[in-house]
Amino acid sequence: MKIIELEEVDSTNDYIKRSDFQEEVIVTAARQTGGRGTKGRSFISDEGGLYLSALRLHKNFDSSKTFSIMIDSCVAVCRTLEKFGFEPKVKWPNDVLVGGRKICGTLIENRLSSGHMCRSIVGIGLNVNNSFTGELQGIATSMRLQGGRAFDLSKVRGVLIENLSRTFTVEDYKRYIDWFGREIVLVKGEERLTAIAVDVDPSGRLVVRAGGNILHVSSGEVSLRLV
Ligand code: BTN
Repeated sequence: MKIIELEEVDSTNDYIKRSDFQEEVIVTAARQTGGRGTKGRSFISDEGGLYLSALRLHKNFDSSKTFSIMIDSCVAVCRTLEKFGFEPKVKWPNDVLVGGRKICGTLIENRLSSGHMCRSIVGIGLNVNNSFTGELQGIATSMRLQGGRAFDLSKVRGVLIENLSRTFTVEDYKRYIDWFGREIVLVKGEERLTAIAVDVDPSGRLVVRAGGNILHVSSGEVSLRLV
């Protein structure tokens, strides 16, 4: 696998989008000046974090398997964190938490050609040695903050790249969820729905029980708030 290591870039996802690679590549950067998160949010990408995008090329991709891309990247991150002694948890669909705070986010961008998914960019931002100011302090964390020491960024990158070459199952993904059976809040714009988290179905929808009904909700419709 070709690996491109950059010092600074706007966004490793955007770098891949602009480059029109015809082979699978991994692009990493020491910092991003325009890091992007899900739902149009920005992703603070100061020196010390691991910013990585992997280009996946698909042939005859079955769109019912779209969630498998999320599974593979989230579990790869969790396995990496375990290797360095942490106990990661997944916050559906794409965040990884340690000590109840976000340590990693994933932004997956798919491209369709004639109705078929032909390429995916899997962007991962893992907080390794970085720290936070302002309101992020209460919600974000890093390996250094949780472990009480700095970590070798290139070692962490190597383990993550190795784990990204593997495929995982939805059961592997669900093993990192510790909030099934608990009360959660689904957020949709100004609306809030309190429910009990039950499961994540094979297509990646969150299954909840609310007012005696079982609902399957997709991550495009709602955000999850753990309470
Ligand atoms: C999120 O938490 O909302 C997702 C964050 C994804 C950040 C990564 S860092 C590497 C890649 N490049 C980006 O601009 N975003 C992703």
